[in-house]
Amino acid sequence: MTATRDALRSYLRGREALGVPEVFLSGASRDDVLDAVRGAASHVQDPAPAGTDVGRIAREGSREDILGISDMENLRRVAEACSRCGLHSTRTKVVFADGPAEARVLCVGEAPGANEDRTGLPFVGRAGKLLDRLLLSVGFSRSEVFICNVLKCRPPGNRNPLPDEIEACSPFMLRQVELVRPAVIVALGTFAAQTLLGTRDSLRHLRGRTHLYEGYPLVVTYHPAALLRNAGWTRPSWRDLQLARRIVDGDHGGSTLGEQVEGEPATNPDNPGSPAGSQGQLTLGGRDG
Ligand code: URA
Repeated sequence: MTATRDALRSYLRGREALGVPEVFLSGASRDDVLDAVRGAASHVQDPAPAGTDVGRIAREGSREDILGISDMENLRRVAEACSRCGLHSTRTKVVFADGPAEARVLCVGEAPGANEDRTGLPFVGRAGKLLDRLLLSVGFSRSEVFICNVLKCRPPGNRNPLPDEIEACSPFMLRQVELVRPAVIVALGTFAAQTLLGTRDSLRHLRGRTHLYEGYPLVVTYHPAALLRNAGWTRPSWRDLQLARRIVDGDHGGSTLGEQVEGEPATNPDNPGSPAGSQGQLTLGGRDG
């Protein structure tokens, strides 16, 4: 039944992203519709086509194996069966992603929290609601944004991701980027920014300009959970998202890639509780979805 619900949810999200919020049953009964949806769901669960050895890659695949997976469904299958790091033994659900595979905006968070681990969806708790509102404030509805995390499984007690977990899991996120081919990537917080940009630079140095990841424009902003602890960062975050909006619209507001965002006030990353600790000091903790 979960697969049925997931298939229905993703079908309705796709329709909504296409600007078709209503569903007309045109004479079909409720049972006809449910049968059709179950058909789609059983298709989703079909064994992977020859070429993707889901079981082997999920058990012992290399980074290259994951980066070589040709499509999102097989990537999801491998992630959902993955036991390549210790987090598989404590997770309830793998949190693969939410949103359309043809999204123009791709947000990357850190790792699932308790709500995400329970539901299998990213950013569904308080931080997720805040993220939804921030996205909406620049004209992106959640249903049109692809949202994923660096880690697909919850670190116990919401501790920070460990380097070997990031090493094992980040290829899924990097492959998601390549498959979605977004107009802009929004890195939410230090872990996402550092993983994508291959740097140990702090958020203070990374925010406020447009980076490139493999040719994709990338904007760095605060993690929404950090905003819940420090409301003063909401306006700077909003400005970061405005930059993402301008990139999607093809209008960089007079700034070019790599330039400082126009009018961006200096932030105070040294505030207590900042996610932007000095290099190598990751202080994000307290992930609450
Ligand atoms: N924090 C994250 O980084 N990701 C989630 O999905 C939820 C909270």
